[in-house]
Amino acid sequence: MAEMIDALALAESMGVLEIGTGTGYNAAVMCAITGTRVVSIEVAPDVAAQARAALIGAGYPVEVVTGDGAQGVPAFAPFDRVIATAAVRDVPYAWVEQTRPGGRVVMPWRNDLVEGGRLLVLDVSADGSAAGRFGGGLSFMPLRQQPLPKFVPWVSDNEEGDYEETTTRVDPREVLDGRNRGAKFAIGLRLPGCTDGRTINEDGTETFRLSHFESGSWAGFTPGNGEHVVKQHGTRRLWDELEAAYSWWLEADRPGPDRFGITVTPQGQTIWLDSPTGMNWSV
Ligand SMILES: C[S@@+](CC[C@H](N)C(=O)[O-])C[C@H]1O[C@@H](n2cnc3c(N)ncnc32)[C@H](O)[C@@H]1O
Repeated sequence: MAEMIDALALAESMGVLEIGTGTGYNAAVMCAITGTRVVSIEVAPDVAAQARAALIGAGYPVEVVTGDGAQGVPAFAPFDRVIATAAVRDVPYAWVEQTRPGGRVVMPWRNDLVEGGRLLVLDVSADGSAAGRFGGGLSFMPLRQQPLPKFVPWVSDNEEGDYEETTTRVDPREVLDGRNRGAKFAIGLRLPGCTDGRTINEDGTETFRLSHFESGSWAGFTPGNGEHVVKQHGTRRLWDELEAAYSWWLEADRPGPDRFGITVTPQGQTIWLDSPTGMNWSV
């Protein structure tokens, strides 16, 4: 939280909106820094009521609103700063729209490969768009309307199943267990909607899993001795996509998270490598 507050670059008298009041502690800290009323929105009515009472009791002028923070709080907009304390994968445009040009939006951003999240700091322009880069790692509960993706049920490795079996020389651990720093975050940016997990087999070996719920596709990879077994099911060949994304990442000189950024407009969000005008794609 301290890193996120630093990234906000708060100054006296700034108008701040917080998404996710929780205990109210962070809102109180921001009140103390700005010396002015902070607006904070919480989706859970009981949590909002408790925070409201605690903040009044402690003497902090926080306007606690009960509702869905993905919509922002238009009645109190525009704000100089917006901070989300729940993780998002799709940046709600309302947060950009309700921030003054020159203002800033800070949030924990996550992709669908399980890696934790990254700090995202967006600066808002006069044209109504916002852009910024990913920062350090952080992990927050997801915004209620953006739950983590569901898994397609795995078939056991011993079970006959409707899958195609091949082998590969790319070790799945290079990508999926964080051994190759930065690979997993970058590949998650290329494979939106794909999530991963791992299971332990009866003989003690591990099988890495990828799943894409909407298409009902899954892939499993069991590391072997130089040759690794790959099983793929469904309309998407997830291992092939993962391997292509990994090759792309290697060829792009192994970019770390700080080389990627996001631009948010009313039409949606675009991920870019190195600069908003460089290589980019929608997620
Ligand atoms: C990590 S906690 C926030 C911590 C808080 N800022 C503090 O100082 O204690 C995340 C909070 O976000 C809330 N939340 C989740 N989705 C939300 C949404 N769509 N709108 C508003 N609050 C949301 C959760 O109910 C939870 O209280």
